[in-house]
Amino acid sequence: MDKIRILGGVPLHGIIPIAGAKNAVLPLMAASLLTEETLTLSNVPRLMDVTTMANLLIQHGVELSMKRKTPADSYDGDIIELCSRSINNTTAPYKLVRLMRASVLVLGPLVTRFGQARVSLPGGCAIGTRPVDLHLKGLEQMGARIQLNGGYIEASVRGRLKGTKIVLPQISVGATENLLMAAVLAEGETVLINAAREPEVCDLAHCLTVMGAKISGIGTDVMSINGVNHLYGTSYDIIFDRIEAGTYAIAAAITRGEIELLCPCSPLMRAVFTFLKKCGVQIVSTERGVKISAVHGDIMGIDVMTEPYPGFPTDMQAQVMALMTTARGVAMITETIFENRLMHVQELIRMGAQIDIHRTSSAIVRGVPKLSGAPVMATDLRASVCLVLAGLSAKGETIVDRIYHLDRGYERLVEKMAACGARIERISAEL
Ligand code: EPZ
Repeated sequence: MDKIRILGGVPLHGIIPIAGAKNAVLPLMAASLLTEETLTLSNVPRLMDVTTMANLLIQHGVELSMKRKTPADSYDGDIIELCSRSINNTTAPYKLVRLMRASVLVLGPLVTRFGQARVSLPGGCAIGTRPVDLHLKGLEQMGARIQLNGGYIEASVRGRLKGTKIVLPQISVGATENLLMAAVLAEGETVLINAAREPEVCDLAHCLTVMGAKISGIGTDVMSINGVNHLYGTSYDIIFDRIEAGTYAIAAAITRGEIELLCPCSPLMRAVFTFLKKCGVQIVSTERGVKISAVHGDIMGIDVMTEPYPGFPTDMQAQVMALMTTARGVAMITETIFENRLMHVQELIRMGAQIDIHRTSSAIVRGVPKLSGAPVMATDLRASVCLVLAGLSAKGETIVDRIYHLDRGYERLVEKMAACGARIERISAEL
């Protein structure tokens, strides 16, 4: 397994292009199953998860072509064309679903268009059990027959799904996306109450609208969908990745450097940028994007709690914790979305951080002058990047292991950071 080697202590200075959003492109690719016409997606990031979703759709019978931008090292997103006119298999096998939980997002489209689906249960992952009960209960309310057999979800409906009112007992991005896609071809009106409002959910809803879906309430917690008989193909440009942008903003802050992010200085970043400004980070919009600066050096410890959008995103929690380890004073970080998303704490402590965990969901971080480099490893995508950020700021050498997690969600991270002066390299595993 490849590793990343970092010699920390260098303030980063430079420009970083921000790619299309991982958590938008995955549901949008699944949405191609809803029409026999071609869906063309642009600004597609080059990520392992995109490849996994492509392989899943291809085995369903989706005709898929990827147009890489030229030159090959261009940071412009790729273009994917997807056409589901000849779907010959409605099973999503365990060997693919276990690689990426978002595979479960083919369930709603397959059931609503083909009347059946057999999708492997995704199973848990490092950050929690991550059940899909809300997805299944919602589909049952729409008339689907759901059975669990041998680790698979077997869903079927005679005729079309029926629109209905669905109250989600807790906010779920994936359940909202699955039920939204199921509803666009259902008979009658579906009302999703307590729907997720994440920008990636809105991006999916906007694309479905362009494809001919009738959706109101996009971006609010009540979405109403009037089912139609047919969706059309279209071309759609994916929103930028707010989590990637937030991650590199932290890279500037934690190294006390200055980075210009090439992405819109958009309201999507409000929760993260408000937090960083409270810490003392300077954030100004530029013609090309937004400049993040901490060259003055003083970062204050500020409390933060993760919440559903528009609150502070859980996918930025680990990165912020890295920043707080060398901030001035104390910060309390509370994770409210996932039950086990503090595993990066132990690795940060190995680098000299002073962190105490309270009742599994809160961490008290007391700032120290400097972290010390160490060999570390992570168990999920965001914990991995947290350790890279800590390594950039630490004195000495840090080796981050299991970096396949990073490849799932960050396009060319080493290149982008090295271009800003980081002493960082990818080292291949000993043969
Ligand atoms: C999406 O995961 C994102 N993934 C996650 O990003 C993100 O952290 C999460 O939303 C929250 O914003 C993608 O979009 C591909 P949820 P998802 O359903 O949909 C519980 C990353 O690092 N729940 O909103 O799986 C669940 O256990 C990844 O990019 C149920 O109990 O998240 C969790 O505690 C990590 N039953 C909470 O709800 C269900 O049926 C929120 O989960 C569904 C969810």
